Amino acid sequence: MTGLPAVPPQETIQQVVSQLAARVPGRDLARASAELSLAYRSAGAVGGAGGAGGAGGRGGGGSAEVPVGSDLAALAYLVTRFPATFAASRRALELSKESSAGWRPRSLVDVGAGPGTAALAAASTWPDLERALLLEPGRHMRSLGEELCARLGLCGPSWRWGVAEPGEPGEPGELTGFDVVAMAYVLGEAGERADDLVALWWERCSGLIVVVEPGTPAGFGVVRRVRSLLVSLGGTVVAPCPHEADCPMGEGDWCHFGVRLSRSSLHRRMKAGEVGWEDEKFSFAAVARPALPGGRSAGRILRRPGRQRRRVELSLCTEAGLERATIGRSSPLYRRAVKSAWGDAWPDASASRV
Ligand SMILES: C[S@@+](CC[C@H](N)C(=O)[O-])C[C@H]1O[C@@H](n2cnc3c(N)ncnc32)[C@H](O)[C@@H]1O
Repeated sequence: MTGLPAVPPQETIQQVVSQLAARVPGRDLARASAELSLAYRSAGAVGGAGGAGGAGGRGGGGSAEVPVGSDLAALAYLVTRFPATFAASRRALELSKESSAGWRPRSLVDVGAGPGTAALAAASTWPDLERALLLEPGRHMRSLGEELCARLGLCGPSWRWGVAEPGEPGEPGELTGFDVVAMAYVLGEAGERADDLVALWWERCSGLIVVVEPGTPAGFGVVRRVRSLLVSLGGTVVAPCPHEADCPMGEGDWCHFGVRLSRSSLHRRMKAGEVGWEDEKFSFAAVARPALPGGRSAGRILRRPGRQRRRVELSLCTEAGLERATIGRSSPLYRRAVKSAWGDAWPDASASRV
């Protein structure tokens, strides 16, 4: 069987988003975008734009469902949120792939796909994927996603859309055996149903579940809970944690990562002409059943590395807990430390304890 059609580069995706947006008056789209941003901010469901560093992205209280109740609202999501949720999903999946090197998943389900975000990210991360099922209960979001993906050449029997529950009349039938189950920016909105949803999809997963949420205290809270649940069900954590022990993150802190994305001119206009880039903060967990090949590293870099003269300071999560490592010029890992980035795996856990 051959793989899915290749996902076009990001510039092409941005061009298609701009073409889709061009069919409504800019003023209407700007208004809908402002309303959507406000709704996400009040729900605490955005992983922060702007600023750098390991702390940003305080999103306030818990996140809640933000209904996308019209074609215009779905388009506003595509223009203003999709670029960031795509970039975050892509980074989370790449980090998961690095920790399961050599594993070649064939099938994917994207639960709460929105416009197809995690499926597009997964298909660009694992080009050997052969089939994708995208489940999206919101009809405005689903029809926009179908159109976006079709324009990107992703359609047909290997790239199917469904509502939410496979097995319902008229819905795709296969319920189990998905190598990758992706749930991006969904569980925070699912509220009390989140744990049941995760347990349900764990049963239908034969490989890896990847959960991505905003990099806020609330988003991290969801990820931490889901990670514990999956470990209690027998899962092995692939990323970001190098262990299955209780999360060592202390009170008032939260494990999150960041990704910088460039904004198209349309994206910039809809965000009131700010800078040409934004930083999306996200939390994630990738948990496998059964243990995948590849193996994870001894540590994970939890903050932007501090580069000083002749040394690099790293904040790490390791099996022994949170550690701070100082990598001097004489270390064989110095070059690697200089090039390292927030979120990267780190091969050595020996360090002075925090
Ligand atoms: C914030 S959007 C995220 C969309 C996409 N995953 C992304 O990252 O851009 C959340 C989506 O989850 C969907 N959703 C909410 N509850 C769901 C459920 N129980 N099962 C599947 N999807 C759900 C919503 O319809 C909505 O489109």
